[in-house]
Amino acid sequence: MALSTGTALLLAVCFLACYASVPSLAASGEFLQCLSGNIPSQLVFTPSSPSFTSVLVSSIRNPKFFTPTTVRPVCIVTPTNASHVQAAVVCGRRHDVRVRVRSGGHDYEGLSYRSERPETFAVVDLENLRAVRVNRRAATAWVDSGATLGELYYTVAKAAPGLAFPAGVCPTIGVGGHFSGGGMGMMMRKYGLSVDNVLDATLVDATGRLLDKKAMGRDLFWAIRGGGGGSFGIVLSWKVRLVPVPQTVTFFNIQKSVDQGAVNAVTKWQTIAPALPEDLSIRVIVQSKQALFQSLYFGNCSAIVRTMSSQFPELGMTRADCREMSWLQSTVNINSGDANITVETLLNRTTSLNTFTKNKSDYVKQAITEASWEKIFPWFNNAGAGIIILEPHGGSVGSIADAETPYPHRSGVLYNIQYVAFWTGNGTDSPNWIRGLYDFMEPLVSKTPRGAYVNYRDLDIGENTVIGGVTSYETGKVWGEQYFGGNFKRLAITKGKVDADDYFRNEQSVPPLVSRM
Ligand code: FDA
Repeated sequence: MALSTGTALLLAVCFLACYASVPSLAASGEFLQCLSGNIPSQLVFTPSSPSFTSVLVSSIRNPKFFTPTTVRPVCIVTPTNASHVQAAVVCGRRHDVRVRVRSGGHDYEGLSYRSERPETFAVVDLENLRAVRVNRRAATAWVDSGATLGELYYTVAKAAPGLAFPAGVCPTIGVGGHFSGGGMGMMMRKYGLSVDNVLDATLVDATGRLLDKKAMGRDLFWAIRGGGGGSFGIVLSWKVRLVPVPQTVTFFNIQKSVDQGAVNAVTKWQTIAPALPEDLSIRVIVQSKQALFQSLYFGNCSAIVRTMSSQFPELGMTRADCREMSWLQSTVNINSGDANITVETLLNRTTSLNTFTKNKSDYVKQAITEASWEKIFPWFNNAGAGIIILEPHGGSVGSIADAETPYPHRSGVLYNIQYVAFWTGNGTDSPNWIRGLYDFMEPLVSKTPRGAYVNYRDLDIGENTVIGGVTSYETGKVWGEQYFGGNFKRLAITKGKVDADDYFRNEQSVPPLVSRM
């Protein structure tokens, strides 16, 4: 079919608008030359380097984003100090090559190391910047972005027994991306999110300057604590407040099948869990007509049995369910379920490329009825096809004001839902059930806007468009308000102040909102 002149013109304009930012091969050659003058060659990997593929794949979690058609970087820079990161940004700006930063590579859409559209970009991989320096007396630590949560937990607990840090459950997550999006974990009801405990940070901004909290100013320091990674600069390290934990905590896993009353127990859990004492956190994993209740309690077995029998008798918890252990051991246990696995496994950064995943998220403010749960459980009729994880809010995470950090899902939130589909084989397409369930859930979850957690990145909820060389605020609002609610506008204004040219850009980076007054 022949195109009309008008349609052809429109396509040409669109093509130019979409790809105007793709620099020529010469520009990327000049970029590499610029890097070579500032960064030792053994720290820069191009596709012709023998180790390029192994460096690229080293922290990729999802084989969906490691295929022959995945848009890959022109090079990977693996800095060993701040000046290398600054040089990558300065060279990138000079030669029109964007950088994407990768800390632990766990982004659910792979945005730290791949692009959805053809684009020339480089990856700054912070794996070599992963020191954790603990100040026991001050109960603080400086942690580099390239450290994993496992390395952080282990180093803190060994250097300062009795102290810990509230963050996520999976030990191979990178500190850089995790803190950038909030950081939910088993201690958030007691101590808040990771970002609620960040005291200072160092960042390389869009002009290549190295800034600390004082130099970056109030808005930028606010934005990097939960406004999502990859938008405001490259955070090199974070100063965090360490939190006290008892010598022994109590952990339990209780599994209930539908036949054993799982539906009723989950229905009750929705209002009980967010109102429990802050020392007690119970999350739920629903899978294939089963519900697994996982709990961390800051006290001994006798005390938790008493609390559970008075507040949540439906679970039928007894002394036999208790496992007392150190807090550090509990961080291993929650993943493996095996108390014999040593805490040294927290230092293992290796990830596997066996399982494809697709993740989505929601927030619940009004408990879902038992009748609806009756319908939700059967979605998991193929064992192993997927799970949903329910993370209770309330306590500290719920009592901090919604605008205190960019993470807005606090007052009135009962819990977060994470939907996870997983599959093996060659298929890169997500199974339909996850989107079907997400549609089914719409009337049951938070509304106007429907909430989502930026660290559970989901490109289904919207992607940026670039108009006139800059990311559109109007398009960004669609996904941005789901992640950040009323905080999105302040994030966009901050982006407009610190990166008006939109150098740090990806499919869901915060668009710059620049006042034209
Ligand atoms: P990655 O390096 O891929 O970065 C993620 C994003 O942040 C990218 O956009 C990247 O460019 C940007 N970024 C990375 N480093 C940066 C830096 N130094 N400065 C600025 N931007 C940076 N979450 C949670 O809250 N609680 C949990 O329990 C879990 N559990 C969990 C389990 C598993 C198996 C996975 C795969 C993920 C989770 N998550 C999670 C989600 C996790 O917090 C989220 O994917 C983080 O962004 C991952 O951070 P990484 O540094 O590993 O990712």
